Amino acid sequence: MKNAILLTSAGAVLMAFLLMSFSAYQQKQPEPWPVPAEYKNMANPVKADEASVKLGAAAYARNCASCHGRTGLGDGPKGRALKTFSGDFSGAAYHNQTDGEHFYKTKFGRGEMPAYDKKISDTDMWHMVNYMRTFKK
Ligand code: HEC
Repeated sequence: MKNAILLTSAGAVLMAFLLMSFSAYQQKQPEPWPVPAEYKNMANPVKADEASVKLGAAAYARNCASCHGRTGLGDGPKGRALKTFSGDFSGAAYHNQTDGEHFYKTKFGRGEMPAYDKKISDTDMWHMVNYMRTFKK
């Protein structure tokens, strides 16, 4: 009987511990990210043809997949360790944004999302925007 009680309380402690460590690994959802109208309404100057999507894929694999994951689910090895969820590029919340919004966020970053304005040319960023559109809903 005594053993049974000990076992039950050990189980309860273990459960509590597991729950606590689980919630510690929960990522917080990103806050709304307003984009200035100037960027939001910006026309994408790069046609989303096969060549552009291919260039975008290569640049994405090099620079972004470590966090955003190969298929844009936010599950890259580095992405899983972030405090903020990096987003689901296959969902409506992503696809309902304009190309200009994706471009702006890539260019200027915020918090754990790095800014790429000094590392990647605007044209290459538009290629990536075109590629990221292929992560389907
Ligand atoms: C170090 C990890 C990391 C890397 C590398 C990274 N990102 Fe991000 N990204 C994030 C995080 C975290 C967020 C969410 C930031 C927030 O909303 O506060 C984010 C958000 C975004 C968003 C906005 C998503 C949305 O739904 O609004 C876009 C677009 C984006 N990233 C594009 C890129 C591109 C393109 C690259 C590569 C050139 C890249 N990111 C590289 C971590 C990363």
